[in-house]
Parts: sequence; structure tokens; C-alpha cells
Amino acid sequence: MSASVERPRRHLLGVGDLTREDAERVLDTARGLERTLDREVKKLPTLRGRLVVNLFYESSTRTLASFELAAKRLSADTMTLRSSGSSVDKGESLRDTALTLAAYDPDVIVVRHPHIGAPHLVAGATDAHVVNAGDGKHQHPTQALLDLFTIREALGRLEGVAVAIVGDVLHSRVARSLVEALLLVGAEPLLVGPPTLIPRGIEATGCDVSHSVDALAHADVVYVLRMQAERMESAYVPSLREYTALYGVTPERVRPGQVVMHPGPMNRGVEIDPRVADSGASLVTAQVRSGLVVRMAVLYDLLTAPGLRVVAPVLEVA
Ligand code: CP
Repeated sequence: MSASVERPRRHLLGVGDLTREDAERVLDTARGLERTLDREVKKLPTLRGRLVVNLFYESSTRTLASFELAAKRLSADTMTLRSSGSSVDKGESLRDTALTLAAYDPDVIVVRHPHIGAPHLVAGATDAHVVNAGDGKHQHPTQALLDLFTIREALGRLEGVAVAIVGDVLHSRVARSLVEALLLVGAEPLLVGPPTLIPRGIEATGCDVSHSVDALAHADVVYVLRMQAERMESAYVPSLREYTALYGVTPERVRPGQVVMHPGPMNRGVEIDPRVADSGASLVTAQVRSGLVVRMAVLYDLLTAPGLRVVAPVLEVA
């Protein structure tokens, strides 16, 4: 048996790859790593000599920056390839791009792509561990983990926490991953938005649905989603002004004791009022900070711990 066959190939392609134990272990590791953020010397030698490649076919600020910094803080080498400005512009396919990068023997490839299943294709084409950093409207598992971490740090628990996710659920990989992750750890997701922006039949997954913004009052956490104009083929609401009037999260719609989250980037004045975004109830900056330690924990877990399950890549992307 060759060395490449013996090597465990564990991936994080979606929240479905995680057991509750996996998720809790990653959150516990992240908690331990958080202590390093306040040290004068923040670097750990843990992944020295390893290579983490970021392969991004869509724009990103938080996910790309935090994966790059997470790898560096663990002493791994990093390489970032954005599709724009690369040979993708000359027509090179995703598979050929992945095979090209695989020639440098990366340990982890972090993939963001507008097409569902792209990270699965990279996992099938290379020997690297692959992390899905967002594929179309499908999955964004590390966002879900960092959101769980943020909620647990803020409220001290996850079990039984009521999380109202308000906005454009239909086009949101963040919402799909977060609903799965909340159900995994015993929290209670509620989706709030106009019928056109809530996937039909999603109640079957175990979450509740309301089309009234008044339902936010019952939640411990109000999780605000951006209108994902880049994934909309037609108009889903009569106008942004009407959407804001009906579902925008304003100070009047946040009750004392609630916390407010948003994965970013925020459209201030559309789905979230700036007075809420900048209020003491807002965990938006905490989410960004959590992203660093949770992504450090994911890299650590994939490369050193017998955790995340092997997933057979099955999807094909042109
Ligand atoms: N939340 C999130 O994925 O942000 P970026 O698109 O900036 O990475």
C-alpha cells in the first residue's frame, strides 16, 4: 500500500461531516487557542512544515484573512490563489487548477467557489485535506462553527438556545450550515423572513419558520442575514425599502437581553440598522475574532487529531 493511500484524508466539506462530539472538540480546542491571542508572541509551532493553500474563486474578507492568519499562527506555510488574476482567467478548469496546486504537496486546501460541490471535486482530485470555505448557497461549515463558538462564549451554553435567523435564508449557505449546526448541538433555530426568501419545506429539517418579524422577540440570539443579490436571478421582494420596513433589525425590534449576530459583510440600513450593529448587543466583532481561533482549531484537528469523518467526494463540477 502506498504512502498516499495510508494517509488519512479527512475533510470538512459540510456540517454533515461533523458529529456533535467533533463540533464540541473543535470548539474546546478553539477556546484553548483563544488564550494565545493575548500573548505578546502569538505564534505556535504546531503545524511547522505544513502547507495550507487558500483557493478562492469568490471574494472574501473574513474567511480568507482568518484562514491565512490561522495557518500562520500555527507556523504553517501558506499560499493564496484567487481565481481573478490566475490562469483561471485563461480558461484553466477547477480540476486542472487543483492538480497544479497539488503538485506542491499541500496538506490542506481551503476552497471557496460559487458552484455547489466545487470543494468535493478538489477533495476527489488531490491528496490534501479540503475545507469548504463556502460553495454557492450550499455550505459554509467553518462559519457555522465560529457562530456556535461565539454563542457559547456569550451565553455560556448552546443546548436550548433559541436562535432566530432573519433575512434571505433561500440564498444563504451560512443559514443552511448554521441550522444544521444548531440542531446538532441541541439549540433551537427559527427562520424569519418573507415566504419568497425561506426555502419551501425547510421545517422538515427540524427548525421553525415564521413570516412575522414579531417572532424575533422569542429568541435569545437574533442572527441577521444579508440580502444575497449576487445569487438572485429575479426580484424576491418588492423593494429593499419595503424589506427593511418589514424585516430590518432596528433597535425597536431587539429586546433587552438579546444578542445580535451577522456573518458579514453587513448592508447597514438594509437588513440591520447601524444603531444595532454598533450596539452593546452586537457580537459581530466577536464573530470575526472567533473565526481566527475556530479556523486554527479546524486546521489543528484535520492535521493532528483523529476526528472529522472521511467523506467520499461524489459531485462533479464543470
Ligand atoms: N462571513 C463570510 O464568509 O465573510 P467573507 O465573505 O468576508 O469571507
